[in-house]
Amino acid sequence: MTNWINIAQAAKEWVLEAGQRIRDSLNEELLIETKSDANDLVTNIDKDTEKFFIEKIKQYNLEFKIMGEEGFGDRIVSLDGVIWILDPIDGTMNFVHQKRNFAISLAVYENGEGRLGIIYDVMADDFYHVIPGSGAFLNDIRLNTLKDVTLEKAIIGLNATWITPNKRIDYQILSPLVKTVRGTRSYGAAAIELAYVATGRLDGYITMRLNPWDYAAGKLLIEEVGGKTSNLKGEPLSLLNPSSLLVGGPTVYDEIRENYLKDYQGK
Ligand code: IPD
Ligand code: CA
Ligand code: CA
Repeated sequence: MTNWINIAQAAKEWVLEAGQRIRDSLNEELLIETKSDANDLVTNIDKDTEKFFIEKIKQYNLEFKIMGEEGFGDRIVSLDGVIWILDPIDGTMNFVHQKRNFAISLAVYENGEGRLGIIYDVMADDFYHVIPGSGAFLNDIRLNTLKDVTLEKAIIGLNATWITPNKRIDYQILSPLVKTVRGTRSYGAAAIELAYVATGRLDGYITMRLNPWDYAAGKLLIEEVGGKTSNLKGEPLSLLNPSSLLVGGPTVYDEIRENYLKDYQGK
């Protein structure tokens, strides 16, 4: 039988080691390339970090499969078996420009069931982890169940992807929501924003298009503390394909779904 406690311990050590390597690289010159568009950045450190994890995971068990953002892992077409889902640096633009507010996001699913989620905010040295059914933790202190917050008292994570042409959501949907909530925030790293929802620093988070490696760990953290996760239509998040995303405490999530997204037709 797979021993998830041992795997979680090994994964924690790899993540902390990778985080240290990233911090050590901060004074070196970065090799920066672009991917899907001029603002979609990748660096040599994103690639090196992904390769570091793949080596560790395969050394641990050759049967484990890896879905990594930078493409050095396996081609994953089904959720059968044990699959590690990795974003080696989430928030690469922050990494390049600000040298803070970026994270390593690592999750493990077995036949589609979440077994482990880790988000490591590298510069804050905040280590979030969840073993579904056994609790969610920040630096080994257990996170509480989310408090019930109404939309009027909520702070929502939101970013500008909703105005980009192929991902557009009608401003008529979002502007009343933005006027209703207490405030909005945008941190530029989805994994950190999801971890913030799990700790109650944000009460919800909406975005138009993310990939499974952006949310595979955050989804498990949020669900463990009683939050809800789905795409904007209310369907379960895909672990194989990109998706829009709505997450939050139960009241915030339900109020947004029922009052603002009932007629949403996008993906
Ligand atoms: C990005 C960040 C960002 C989100 C983008 C992601 P990356 O990930 O999470 O906050 O808005 O959609 O692609 O490219 O820095 O790993
Ligand atoms: Ca990402
Ligand atoms: Ca990334």
